[in-house]
Amino acid sequence: MSNNYPIGLFDSGVGGTSIWREIHQLMPNENTIYLADSKNAPYGLKSKEEIIALSCKNTELLLELNAKVIVVACNTATTNAIKELRAKYAVPFIGIEPAIKPAAIQSETNIIGVLATKGTLTSELFNQSVLNYPNTKIIEQVGYGLVQLIEEGKTETKEMRLLLKKYLEPMIKQNIDYLVLGCSHYPYLIQEIKKIIPSNIKIIDSGEAVARQTKNILTEKVGLASEKESNQIFYTNSSPEVLNAILEYKYQVMEKDF
Ligand code: DGL
Repeated sequence: MSNNYPIGLFDSGVGGTSIWREIHQLMPNENTIYLADSKNAPYGLKSKEEIIALSCKNTELLLELNAKVIVVACNTATTNAIKELRAKYAVPFIGIEPAIKPAAIQSETNIIGVLATKGTLTSELFNQSVLNYPNTKIIEQVGYGLVQLIEEGKTETKEMRLLLKKYLEPMIKQNIDYLVLGCSHYPYLIQEIKKIIPSNIKIIDSGEAVARQTKNILTEKVGLASEKESNQIFYTNSSPEVLNAILEYKYQVMEKDF
């Protein structure tokens, strides 16, 4: 069974390209369409109802563009809206959640840190997952301001360093040995984070796992692309500059009102 329709992805902005990268690396001949809803970023400070409405809007555009599956490349949208999306639309959805499982299983200090948005950390889905690890101390930290700075292209700035220090130093003091990046924007901060945390603290995100899960769903249920040439399409409803820079100017970014 082959299927050459595109994989659709959406995020509140440029961050979900970290997930797109993993998907494109694993399945280079798949066509993809990425929506950066930067106009509405950050999602992490919005209500569950607002996040559901924005996720439905993005889904409907991806369905109009013939997406064969939808990757919710945003932890905040997944943890607040994936149940509602699955109930409303027939297309298969793949979501992304903070990777607390591998961190909790591998931690030797039994203390892990999770950096994520307020929307993710207060969601029912996240709080239920945490209950599965009663023997692990999970230090949760909202990354206030981080997504906004990334959306403004201010990743390597003093402002960013100060915020990261403020969020990470208390975790380091409490002896975490794993740091879970629970927001798809944060992989773009790894270089800055490494300047702050000691090298024994391992950083985990969920990008690779999401790519593998997407491949499984395509293989088992939807069909993989059969053509060798593929198209990578990126739409943004805000200024394309930051998205272009994050994609190293290798792909065509188009402006679209959505
Ligand atoms: N990339 C989104 C996430 O994974 C950022 C959410 C936001 O816009 O606050 O949570």
